Amino acid sequence: MLVDVRPTSRLRGAKATDVAATLAPIMAALRDTDSVDLSRLRVVCDWIQYKDNFREQIDVRTILSNGPAGGAPADGDLEIAVDLRRSAEGPLAETTRALLRGYADNGLHRCYLEPWVHTTESCVWDFNALYWRALDLWEKATGRLYEQALPGGESDARNTDAVRELLGQMFGVWDDLAARNSLPEELYVVELGVGNGGQAKVWLDEFRAMDRARGTAYYGRLNYLMCDYSPHVLEQARITVADHEARISALALDARSPTTALGFLRGKIFLVYVSNVYDNLPNEEVARIGGRNYRVESRAYVTADDATLIAEDLGCAVETIRPTVGQLLRLGPALLAETRPDQFPSSEVAVTLWRELWAALRLEERYVPLPGLDMYRIAERVSGEILQPLVESDGDIRMHVNNGAVASFVDTLPLLHPFGRLLCHDLFVTDVQQFQNAFRGPGKYDGSVVNWCNGPLLRHIGGRAGFDVGFARFAHRTGTNIVTMTAQVRD
Ligand SMILES: C[S@@+](CC[C@H](N)C(=O)[O-])C[C@H]1O[C@@H](n2cnc3c(N)ncnc32)[C@H](O)[C@@H]1O
Repeated sequence: MLVDVRPTSRLRGAKATDVAATLAPIMAALRDTDSVDLSRLRVVCDWIQYKDNFREQIDVRTILSNGPAGGAPADGDLEIAVDLRRSAEGPLAETTRALLRGYADNGLHRCYLEPWVHTTESCVWDFNALYWRALDLWEKATGRLYEQALPGGESDARNTDAVRELLGQMFGVWDDLAARNSLPEELYVVELGVGNGGQAKVWLDEFRAMDRARGTAYYGRLNYLMCDYSPHVLEQARITVADHEARISALALDARSPTTALGFLRGKIFLVYVSNVYDNLPNEEVARIGGRNYRVESRAYVTADDATLIAEDLGCAVETIRPTVGQLLRLGPALLAETRPDQFPSSEVAVTLWRELWAALRLEERYVPLPGLDMYRIAERVSGEILQPLVESDGDIRMHVNNGAVASFVDTLPLLHPFGRLLCHDLFVTDVQQFQNAFRGPGKYDGSVVNWCNGPLLRHIGGRAGFDVGFARFAHRTGTNIVTMTAQVRD
């Protein structure tokens, strides 16, 4: 048996976690559970820092030895995953025993919302998209703005000092190009994932003020393109920056494929500005266990107890939860209320169901062997072969692939002017070993999903495409986890 305790920083100091107290009841449960082959068992302990997440206190995962056709517990090795933060919640030994018994008998009685899927295809991403699409209804119901859930309680992209520094560098590049008569008449800047437009406003206000002070008249040549996949969000952002109306355009597009709408600007954009978006794009994980590579697959569920409560609230049978979820995700709460007024007399009632479901939503996981990394597709035109130096360099590891962020990154680079740059404030892992010593998601931020981003993977992909990709801790707020990634054509 292998026991893997990941959050090493939690093992020392005044608030150190008592790992032994957590493991003892689990070992007691294993002592009494004959159905588990202890020689084929891993126990993995994490500290899930996100109070709202997709995990139970204890989870069980199959490590399949063959393809996904198998799936019976006996078909592979087993992993017990423990959340150390919640180890004092309830009787651990009994919970573990019941879970393993239910698992062996196929009797977990969960209400599954989907079959096993690649995690990037899970309905959690439809919940995520719904959150941004119907943000006004969610925020009204909770009385909380989305920014309050971000690290530090507001977007770091609104930090004036950081914006001035960025603008100073960009103006320097433009001055040099202007001196050589090489600065284009139209100056393009793109922001992906604009939220409430607060950061666009700070950026544009500072741009105008600095430009006036320098007397460079760049403001009148600026085209600031605000892009988001949520029409509601775009409209909010447009209102926020109304003062700069002549300089802005709002475009509905998926951040994973910016060239679909922006292809006409290939090689022309001086700045692509992204903050707190990569961590919100669809992600799945790969793992190396005992010398083999696996993809982590998921299926979303709610526990039997939660399903009963939700069905009671809905006044319907548990079996109808899954089709109702499908309708909610397709239509959104307002249209759902219009379509089924007997059950949802107002959109507020539909939002209540949405919030209950989201709070109850869990992800069951399993490891499916990957025949070869080159058979795995990270994103369009990005083969999994590129993961090899990261996944196969140093023993067992489980890491994020950030498929959505990789797709966005790869499709953004061709848009950059040779002197342009991609700048991204986000939660980045900058060394793959950081996946081994702390939990990196997924967590829940209000109604959205958060996953840390695999910086070394983006650096590697950028490097192959001829870009320098650098990471620096966000310098304008102390104690922040936010890192700034910059990508620009290699000198
Ligand atoms: C956490 S907010 C960040 C907003 C803002 N940049 C900030 O720092 O406050 C994430 C934003 O990304 C947008 N977004 C998420 N996934 C997207 C996608 N696939 N395509 C386009 N926009 C997306 C959301 O609608 C939302 O506006």
